[in-house]
Amino acid sequence: MDAPVVQMKGISKSFPGVAANDNVDFELNRGEIHALLGENGAGKSTLMNILAGLYRPDSGKLIIEGNPVELHSPADAIRHGVGMIHQHFMLVEAFSAAENIVLGDSRTPAFVNKRKIGEKVGAVAAEFGMDIDPQAFIWQLSVGEQQRVEILKALYRNAKILILDEPTAVLTPQESAVLFGTLKEMAARGCSVVIITHKLAEVCDVADRVTVMRRGRVSGQAEGEDINYASLSRMMVGEDIKLDGRVQQGKPGDAVLKAEGLCVMGEKGLLAVDSLSFELRRGEILGVAA
Ligand SMILES: Nc1ncnc2c1ncn2[C@@H]1O[C@H](COP(=O)(O)OP(=O)(O)OP(=O)(O)O)[C@@H](O)[C@H]1O
Ligand SMILES: [Mg+2]
Repeated sequence: MDAPVVQMKGISKSFPGVAANDNVDFELNRGEIHALLGENGAGKSTLMNILAGLYRPDSGKLIIEGNPVELHSPADAIRHGVGMIHQHFMLVEAFSAAENIVLGDSRTPAFVNKRKIGEKVGAVAAEFGMDIDPQAFIWQLSVGEQQRVEILKALYRNAKILILDEPTAVLTPQESAVLFGTLKEMAARGCSVVIITHKLAEVCDVADRVTVMRRGRVSGQAEGEDINYASLSRMMVGEDIKLDGRVQQGKPGDAVLKAEGLCVMGEKGLLAVDSLSFELRRGEILGVAA
């Protein structure tokens, strides 16, 4: 088997009053989707921000493609093939998708030919089966589409290692399924993917391997058949979790809010809400799903 694409050895990083990473070892193989799982504050983002060149570790080693490296900036990281998609996108609203993708890339000339970059970006999108209109402005795109622009931005810069920090937090289940399809396609083409999450279900869905963090340390690893709810939740919180018997059925009262035949125009000038009716009753939790 190939040597790991990334090896992080004995990584420690403290912030005032907290050891965010405490002697963490992490490995990423070529062509794998590796989930980094853990509760809030476990140190997942800190570890990946180090790999993406945003933070410098206090101690520990970073080895990419067999070479020890020191990363001083995200630009440094991308030169080593590492791209990170943050939870809060870093796109310019008033620019098109294609402009955002080429913006800040060292190969982009000072004067860009819009049609040419549109074609180039469209070609990268097609290669990975991603559906995006390169000429659309960011403000016209859904959150899922904006995320695709961020991913394309990394691929356009030849990222071979893609890190996504809680990518599904902002997506609908359908958008998540599309994203997972893209990630699998990327992995099949030899990219390595790290997906940070605290959702067990998506780890079971998409990950080839999982590293679990707890309070700044690695608390466990699993792959293949061993990726299941029971073992993962135990590694996450340090004890078995009983999921049954906690939910009490409520007794909803009268309707306190009623909507009938609601129609709303969206930003793109299309009907975003079409003849919607619902009611909300006292003492109930109403879910809205699409
Ligand atoms: N820039 C920072 N300055 C100070 N403290 C920080 C900073 N970044 C992270 N921390 C702290 O380090 C610890 C680990 O945070 P980190 O963001 O890595 O966790 P996480 O696993 O990504 O959690 P979450 O699921 O909430 O995103 C937390 O206690 C957090 O408050
Ligand atoms: Mg985080």
